[in-house]
Amino acid sequence: MNIGVGVTGASGAIYALRLAEIAGGIDGVTLHYIFSTIGKKIFEIELEKPVETLKSYGAVIHENTDIFLPYASGSNTFDAMAVLPCSMNTLAHIAAGAADTLITRAADVMLKERRKLLLVIRETPLSLTHIRNMESVTLSGGILLPASPSFYMEPETIIDLVDSVIFRITDQLGIPVDHPRYEGGL
Ligand SMILES: Cc1cc2nc3c(=O)[nH]c(=O)nc-3n(C[C@H](O)[C@H](O)[C@H](O)COP(=O)(O)O)c2cc1C
Repeated sequence: MNIGVGVTGASGAIYALRLAEIAGGIDGVTLHYIFSTIGKKIFEIELEKPVETLKSYGAVIHENTDIFLPYASGSNTFDAMAVLPCSMNTLAHIAAGAADTLITRAADVMLKERRKLLLVIRETPLSLTHIRNMESVTLSGGILLPASPSFYMEPETIIDLVDSVIFRITDQLGIPVDHPRYEGGL
């Protein structure tokens, strides 16, 4: 499986790192990371490490300007893609079909080829423009998966909370990750 991971300029770079830590070593899964300019800066500010760290988990990093990458073509798409985290700016581009970077072009291709596209948005509160853009992407077949950690599995650390989002993402992307699941009761 070739999974595209767009990392844009919303808070929550830890999600991008954690996905690589959890899924990067799984046999048959290659994570292809693409950073927007601000996404890269926020990753380095929030995590105090360079984006190249992801390579140690087997991830590949592509330039966001590399529209010539084969995966930006409808004939050779990613099997699935997540934008993680997804800024409202990138959401707006994807909703409008404005495909001027590798992230937005690859996302556009996923929608037109009816492949799975997850937008892990992080913004609060939301304007009507944000909501309308989410509606538009949803109508085009994309999945809005807000970065909303769950608190019912007795989290003890921030990483537990982060992972509660990551496990929803790996399930959606079809990456086989063994993880705790809610079995009823409290
Ligand atoms: C420290 C910082 C945190 C930000 N957090 C968010 C956020 O959580 N959500 C969001 O939509 N935009 C956020 N922004 C604004 C985006 O980074 C900005 O709109 C940028 O143009 C997004 O570009 P990109 O979509 O190409 O990554 C943040 C900006 C900064 C500097």
